[in-house]
Amino acid sequence: MGDTNDKPQSQNWEVVEYNLKEASSELLDKYYVIYSQLYKEEHPDEPLLPLDILKERIQRNDPSWCNRYFAVFKNDAYAGTGSMQFLKPGVEADEFKFLSTFYIRTLPEYRRKGVGTAILKKMTQETLKMGIKTIEMYSMLDSGKSFCGHFQGKVVNNFGFNRLDIKDIDWRMVESWKIEAETKTPDTKIEFHERLTGKDWDQYLEMQVAFFKELSLFDEEPLFDEEFFRKDFVEYEKKRIEEGTRDAVIAVAREADGTIIGYTEISYDKREPHKIDQDMTGVLKERRGKNLGKRLKAEMLLKIRDTKPDVIFIATGNDTKNKHMLKINGELGFKQSSLSLGYSFKIHDLATKLGLE
Ligand SMILES: CC(C)(COP(=O)(O)OP(=O)(O)OC[C@H]1O[C@@H](n2cnc3c(N)ncnc32)[C@H](O)[C@@H]1OP(=O)(O)O)[C@@H](O)C(=O)NCCC(=O)NCCS
Repeated sequence: MGDTNDKPQSQNWEVVEYNLKEASSELLDKYYVIYSQLYKEEHPDEPLLPLDILKERIQRNDPSWCNRYFAVFKNDAYAGTGSMQFLKPGVEADEFKFLSTFYIRTLPEYRRKGVGTAILKKMTQETLKMGIKTIEMYSMLDSGKSFCGHFQGKVVNNFGFNRLDIKDIDWRMVESWKIEAETKTPDTKIEFHERLTGKDWDQYLEMQVAFFKELSLFDEEPLFDEEFFRKDFVEYEKKRIEEGTRDAVIAVAREADGTIIGYTEISYDKREPHKIDQDMTGVLKERRGKNLGKRLKAEMLLKIRDTKPDVIFIATGNDTKNKHMLKINGELGFKQSSLSLGYSFKIHDLATKLGLE
């Protein structure tokens, strides 16, 4: 580096591209150091993700997306990491063809020294060559929000991470929700499944598409590609079942004629028994207003209580504009643990700001 300034300029940091998926175990151990530090910063109340799970997640082959990896090393260790995610060549998705999501992380002791900027600059240069037009970045931490603000990113998404500690649940209230809602929808039965097949799966998929489409409208710049979503979702579910690392439970609300009119779903990694992710909850538009959402949520919580004794908390994410779900979650005792902002950058504006154009 050879710079005696207290604050080296971004061009002083050498950013290297490398293949993290095929990294040696020695390099992965080093990566785990920076990963864990950032994980602790982002999830202060959670145990660290074990190295073997991280390894498996890095090496996993996603059906639709791929990554290129970058890093700044100092004294034979990571000072910062970057990855850019983009659609796999050959995957059809008009909405996402020109989009790349950047993840940049620097160790606290190297912050405000231009490392983040150096990584951003290198990755922007690479995306320019690929014909990418829009870059997105997400941040839960103030440092990331300031960084994105500095580069004039436009906030397009506001996502709250919420958490419900099992010890704080008012079980009498949950049981009363179940009983109260049952009287409003006496002909609807709630069933639990680990996976859906046949006609049930078809109905579930149609609802999943409809709910995600509805939710994407909360964003400033909605990006929803229905055909892509459908294909990706089916592929992802196939892979989840094949790999067997992530289990799911889905509670469906079924009418007397067999039709599914709503569901709520959870998923979890058996190797992290303390944590459950609450995924989508949705009720068909024409069946709303009868507390079915509440009933599904209550029944699922009771199921968790009765079958998963090691769970400490349930985590969920909600668009901060999704008032209905936030109200239900708030009554159950979910508390916002962090707020992630999604930023969008027009590549040429960013390139100009970084002195690349
Ligand atoms: C965001 C992050 C990568 C920035 O890395 P960095 O190496 O500190 O970045 P830089 O030194 O290049 O910062 C560039 C500019 O961003 C702004 N900035 C960055 N961090 C800031 C902070 N904590 N407070 C205020 N401004 C900040 C400043 O304007 C800074 O320029 P300056 O120091 O000359 O004033 C780092 O703080 C981090 O890892 N945060 C947690 C992960 C994250 O949120 N990543 C971002 C989204 S993917």
